[in-house]
Amino acid sequence: MQKLIFLIVFLFSSSSFAEELSKEMANGKLKVQKVCVTCHGMNGQATGAGNSAIIPNITAQEKNYMVARLKAYKAGEIKHPQMSVVAQMLSEQDINDVAEWYSKIKIQIFDPERKNWRQYNK
Ligand code: HEC
Repeated sequence: MQKLIFLIVFLFSSSSFAEELSKEMANGKLKVQKVCVTCHGMNGQATGAGNSAIIPNITAQEKNYMVARLKAYKAGEIKHPQMSVVAQMLSEQDINDVAEWYSKIKIQIFDPERKNWRQYNK
């Protein structure tokens, strides 16, 4: 499947310059590795896992938005066969930390009209 790619993820390409992670980020990374990676990937780009489920990309998504969604799945306010189960596995701290991880990923956006890349400033 070849789609036009709008996002490029840089964070994982420069491991030799990796800075030490904050406590939040380190726990977020660990939980993402253990729980989320099969479906959302380490960098938030959806994978082919999860059978027929449609998995959203969450790369560089707003942290507050992800926290709100994860809390809503956990509280049963939104129900989904997979995410409701996943959210039960996360503490409040974990929810904060995985959202910290995915929201901190840096991206560039391709403008299809101007045909150029620009930094995504958030
Ligand atoms: C088994 C596959 C699977 C796993 C594992 C999984 N997700 Fe999801 N995730 C999904 C699917 C499918 C959806 C879309 C759910 C829906 O339509 O309500 C989703 C939705 C989300 C959303 C909401 C996106 C939006 O735009 O509303 C967030 C945030 C999210 N996942 C974060 C995570 C995090 C963080 C983890 C790990 C702790 C995780 N997911 C683990 C499959 C998965």
